[in-house]
Amino acid sequence: MNDMIICRCEDVTLGELISHIENGSQTVKSLKLQTRAGMGICQGRTCRVLVEQVMTYYADESNIISSSVGTNFPIRPIRLAELAQNGKGDP
Ligand code: FES
Repeated sequence: MNDMIICRCEDVTLGELISHIENGSQTVKSLKLQTRAGMGICQGRTCRVLVEQVMTYYADESNIISSSVGTNFPIRPIRLAELAQNGKGDP
C-alpha cells in the first residue's frame, strides 16, 4: 500500500509522505516542499486533497500546524501568435 502513487505528476508515493510525516513534517506545505507533491504540472489539482487527507490521517493531531496551501493555476504553453491575437481566431 505504501507504493500507492499519491501525486502522479511528481511520482510521490504514500510511503514517502508517511515517512516525512514521521520525521517531523507538521504542515501540508512542508510536506509539499520536501516531496514536491502538488508541485507538478497540474499544480496539485489532482493530489492536493489527497495530500491533505494523508497529513490529517497519519500525523499526530497535536503536532499538526494549521497552514493554508496556496493553489497555483496550471500553466499550459500557447503560441506567441495566439498571444499576439489575444486568443481570437487562427494565427
Ligand atoms: S498530481 Fe500532484 S501535482 Fe499533479
